[in-house]
Amino acid sequence: MEHILKISHVNKVYDGKNSFQALTNISLNVESGEFIGIMGPSGSGKTTLLNLISTIDRPTSGEIIINGQQPHKLKREKLAKFRRRELGFVFQDFNLLDTLTLEENIMLPLVLEKEKPSVMEEKVNIIAKKLGIESILKKRTFEVSGGQKQRTAIARAIIHKPALLLADEPTGNLDSKSSKSVLEAMLDINQQEKTTMLMVTHDPLAASYCHRVVFIKDGELYNEIYLGDNRQVFYQQILDVLSMLGGNANELLSTRN
Ligand SMILES: Nc1ncnc2c1ncn2[C@@H]1O[C@H](COP(=O)(O)OP(=O)(O)OP(=O)(O)O)[C@@H](O)[C@H]1O
Ligand SMILES: [Mg+2]
Repeated sequence: MEHILKISHVNKVYDGKNSFQALTNISLNVESGEFIGIMGPSGSGKTTLLNLISTIDRPTSGEIIINGQQPHKLKREKLAKFRRRELGFVFQDFNLLDTLTLEENIMLPLVLEKEKPSVMEEKVNIIAKKLGIESILKKRTFEVSGGQKQRTAIARAIIHKPALLLADEPTGNLDSKSSKSVLEAMLDINQQEKTTMLMVTHDPLAASYCHRVVFIKDGELYNEIYLGDNRQVFYQQILDVLSMLGGNANELLSTRN
């Protein structure tokens, strides 16, 4: 099986007056088409890991290979192009541009690649249909719901067919109904487009949509579990690992409504 992401012996130390080792000896291989969840208590290093993969930050030591390339070795311009082509990002707070319509937001990655307008329009329509937002494309961000905003953000993140979609708490600002619509959209995209996805989440229900959930504790890999035949059973297993992880599991659960 082809590995789209290979993380080998990665360490991350934040330098400063009080230097802090946020990640210790992380190794993780992700197969093409996998949908991976990353969980762990607050401060365990999830965002740090995502920032290293997304090349926002660089590892102190160790190696990260994405789609056969080592982005941290690329020069600035090549790195910018690499990020634009190989990666897609989804954030907790959507990061849409409020002055643009949803359609224009979704088009942005193609505009950066100087795609022809007719091609852009066609691609936006196809992806919007898949995400159930085709009827609201002319609206602006303040005219639609949180779930619709996040599905727009997902459309924007995948329209250029990235090798890897990275999502940090994509349902963190959504109620349970909108969360469900976003997670189902992500699952559909994962299955139809074979997009490889990595999602950081505190929500065990969100994590249960993944094929595999990797748990981090104090900057180290703690455990990983795979979806079997039954999503309900997987959800229960995720809850079990969270409770083993310690006192934080209850705190995590109580943040959901
Ligand atoms: N720029 C930084 N400088 C120093 N320490 C940092 C920096 N960013 C994060 N840390 C520390 O590294 C650790 C991991 O932080 P990180 O943001 O990766 O946690 P997290 O798992 O994403 O937590 P949360 O669930 O709260 O988002 C924390 O102890 C944090 O205080
Ligand atoms: Mg975080």
